[in-house]
Amino acid sequence: MCGIVAYIGKEQAFPIILKGLKRLEYRGYDSAGIAVLNNESGLNNYKRQGKVSELEDFSAEQDTSGTIGIGHTRWATHGLPNNVNAHPHISTDGEMALIHNGIIENYDSLKEELVSRGYVFKSETDTEVLIHLIDDIKTNEKVKTAEAVRIALNSVIGAYAIVVLSKDNPNQLIAARKSSPLVVGIGKNGDFFLASDATPIIEYTNEVVYMEDEEIAIVDRNEGLRIFSIQNQEKTPYIQHLELQLEAIEKGGYEHFMLKEIHEQPRSIMDCFRGRLNVEDGWVGLGGIKDYETKLAKAKRIIMVACGTSWHAALVGEYLFEDLTRIPVEVEYASEFRYRNPIINENDIVIAISQSGETADTMAALNLAKSKGATILGICNVVGSSISRITDAGSYTHAGPEIGVASTKAFTAQVTVLTLMALTIARKKGSINETDFRRIITEMELIPDKVAKILEKSKKIEEIAAIYKDATNALYLGRGNSFPVALEGALKLKEISYIHAEGYPAAEMKHGPIALIDEEMPVFVIATKGTSYEKVVSNIQEVKARKGKVIAIITEGDAQVKEMADHYIEIPDTHEYLTPLLTTIPFQLISYYVAVMRGANVDQPRNLAKSVTVE
Ligand code: AGP
Ligand code: GLU
Repeated sequence: MCGIVAYIGKEQAFPIILKGLKRLEYRGYDSAGIAVLNNESGLNNYKRQGKVSELEDFSAEQDTSGTIGIGHTRWATHGLPNNVNAHPHISTDGEMALIHNGIIENYDSLKEELVSRGYVFKSETDTEVLIHLIDDIKTNEKVKTAEAVRIALNSVIGAYAIVVLSKDNPNQLIAARKSSPLVVGIGKNGDFFLASDATPIIEYTNEVVYMEDEEIAIVDRNEGLRIFSIQNQEKTPYIQHLELQLEAIEKGGYEHFMLKEIHEQPRSIMDCFRGRLNVEDGWVGLGGIKDYETKLAKAKRIIMVACGTSWHAALVGEYLFEDLTRIPVEVEYASEFRYRNPIINENDIVIAISQSGETADTMAALNLAKSKGATILGICNVVGSSISRITDAGSYTHAGPEIGVASTKAFTAQVTVLTLMALTIARKKGSINETDFRRIITEMELIPDKVAKILEKSKKIEEIAAIYKDATNALYLGRGNSFPVALEGALKLKEISYIHAEGYPAAEMKHGPIALIDEEMPVFVIATKGTSYEKVVSNIQEVKARKGKVIAIITEGDAQVKEMADHYIEIPDTHEYLTPLLTTIPFQLISYYVAVMRGANVDQPRNLAKSVTVE
């Protein structure tokens, strides 16, 4: 999620925070705000939709003086990007300000309780429940702000990095984190910095404390830094001396955004199903399409429109939806769909899949479907994006900003949402039995850890990439729901290393492509255990018989394919429906390492844009 910067010390807070927010711009965001405490004029709050520069222009003529402040760049998850939903959020009495990165899963129930107690909400965000909850506890339990924050966080479910500023104690900032990062910078002359990462801090100090989950930090002008657990146990701050350069920190220490985003996937997949999956109680639910579940369950046909990687995610969705819900699904390239005068009527449901939510062809396909009376839904990563605004309903992927042009974490998040959607509809239709349903959701919850296990094999994957970095062609093969992953793997290699690559259904080889096979041709094959395993093994034998080089993605412990393949990458076993979430990871890393070894511009490949907003 987005960016936090806060300051307390002897200097003017606003310019330090503004500069810090600009340093966090690489994280992507849709609005920004800063609140500063001034002894005379009190708590001044400035927030604007758009770039940090717009906040800067907006506040230029205003009194922003004060030596304590909090600033935020928002990546909206709940509530459109606009001035009201931007952070900081202020308590009803105007005495406190709060900023938050993350998602409060139980904000609905907290909000209901607070509204019943008379709190009036100004924004549509999940965040606003926090400031009113802290205020409510502070008032009713007559405790100080820091204690009220601690008590409040014990009833919060979800991810948070927060900083709270209160007029009744202008010498203190209170911060806390769980699942969202927060760093404390210890300044040289008694000042303190708080930020989402060290980027805004490094120019002032290299002494930092990386907060741990469920920790509260109190930074006080007089008492310095103290750290507590949310169970109120004081902890000794572990001070680190940063050697990283600014540029490196922006990428979280990774060489490229793409690698950072590949490694973010355990977290982004978890953020994607956070609050939408409950294994213990056995339910899944996508709040954004709740009102359309019946319509989806009764649909005679579902059409998915997308481009590029998102089209590959849609194809995974087709296999899943048809198998689980028995509803016919058509997956269309948006650019083709919009021009071929498709047959669409008011009984159709059209789902657009788009990371950016701005792809021109996908937008146009949606508008065409809407004009013919279809119900249109969206699966986007950017809250408030054009596609999310024109659709009747939809679900956000919550993958966080994806900066690298080659889509990675957005793909796995899209597949995660499609899986949850298919399970929701199948449950509604009664087309899945309870045992299968529970087996899949139990496995889904284990996926982040299994992705992390695959990422631990990066060194081996890099070694394989080194062997094939000079190839001029490559083939990617898969069957069933591995076929779309083969297409996606080929696209990744093409778009960032500029090696020609093609994805094929493994069985399709004998209808022509096998003529391409020779000892120079790397053939990446998804050969995980499942319904088509034996057939894929035969396809591997066909490739080997023509001296092709086989790099196989296999289920851990598969001795048979290990023997046959020239190289293999083992992935943990999982439910067959969920294998695309795992098999795509090695292909992302292969393409990344090959591109780096070929000296390509990994994050901004030639001729490509992150969002294709033109036809
Ligand atoms: C994928 O790596 C590419 N960046 C590209 O194919 C992308 O998926 C396509 O342009 C669709 O973008 P969207 O998901 O933002 O609509
Ligand atoms: N969930 C909060 C919101 O939508 C915070 C999002 C963020 O991390 O920027 O406002």
